[in-house]
Amino acid sequence: MSTHPVVLIAGDGIGPEVTAAVLRILAAAQAPIDWVEHQAGISAIATGSEVLPEATVDAIREHRIALKGPCTTPVGKGFSSVNVQLRQKLNLYAAVRPVRSLRGIKTPYDNVDLVIIRENTEGLYSGIENEVTPGVVMSMKVATEVGCMRISRWAFAFAERRNRSKITVFHKANIMKLTDGLFIRCAAKVQKEEYPGIPYQEVIIDAGCMRLVQDPTQFDMLLLENLYGDVVSDLCAGLVGGLGVVPGANIGHDQAVFEAVHGSAPDIAGKGIANPLALLMSAVMMLNHLAEDRNDSACRTAAEKIKNAYDQTIADGCKTGDLGGDLGTEAFADAVIERFS
Ligand code: NAI
Repeated sequence: MSTHPVVLIAGDGIGPEVTAAVLRILAAAQAPIDWVEHQAGISAIATGSEVLPEATVDAIREHRIALKGPCTTPVGKGFSSVNVQLRQKLNLYAAVRPVRSLRGIKTPYDNVDLVIIRENTEGLYSGIENEVTPGVVMSMKVATEVGCMRISRWAFAFAERRNRSKITVFHKANIMKLTDGLFIRCAAKVQKEEYPGIPYQEVIIDAGCMRLVQDPTQFDMLLLENLYGDVVSDLCAGLVGGLGVVPGANIGHDQAVFEAVHGSAPDIAGKGIANPLALLMSAVMMLNHLAEDRNDSACRTAAEKIKNAYDQTIADGCKTGDLGGDLGTEAFADAVIERFS
């Protein structure tokens, strides 16, 4: 059986704990992966490296796929986000975040099935901030036609491939007439000229958030610029049980980095209680990506085996504390492995 080299970044905070659990599950499922370990974030600084070592970025360029744990970003000071840097350096312009209800997790809705597509490289995350004069600071929101067309095409192509029923753009073009105006113009143009068969709608983001919590089933795929995508991803995680159950992928033309939506959760780091499911789901997305990209049925088999097992684990009521259960990180991993058929 041939194996695929995949760069592994454990990250910091709960990153090493959830990563260890996920690696154990993938090994037990005989996923054909050769892990190539690299550092980023606080763990890289601790070994005397840059926060995002060039060797890490080069390894992802070479092997093209990475699985990444969360990396802490200091608030209001210090180094700039490793996550944002990585997405910008590798041009991982599309973040994909599937949000679906799981049997066994009680929430106000039991039939959520959303896909969030977030533009990952522009908007207010351009990192262009300056102090105009003491007491006056500004941050620049960047939107380019190339970037807006690219993410719109990616989203519609995804919708077509996955047979999704509708794309909704959340925006604030009534206020940010130029930047968000460009975003919706590009999305509408792509729909009209290239995907007229896929229903499309534009909703102002504040009203969209209210509608999401009232009835998320009225939406199917959400397409958002960078900051809105970041915020709405966590809102949608709340609809299905929290950050412990929402996976993600950051995808560019040549590389893809798979990581959970959640952060490094410093409040619970080192306690052995973090939920590894979101990273496990991200690993399953990675296996499916490898299966499609490299036509490898062993990756597909491992992905199916793991997905069936974690669905069953949750349905059986075996859950970590964030979902109301009493299992620790490793006990949850054991419960998943026990359910491999
Ligand atoms: P967070 O997602 O780390 O935590 C928010 C809340 O959710 C916390 O109460 C935490 O305990 C809980 N939580 C998150 N993941 C969990 C899991 N797997 N199991 C159980 N509970 C979980 O967000 P927060 O606190 O805003 O950010 C902490 C750090 O993470 C910051 O430095 C932030 O910049 C970074 N971050 C990194 C990301 C990445 O590496 N992709 C993404 C988001 C935040």
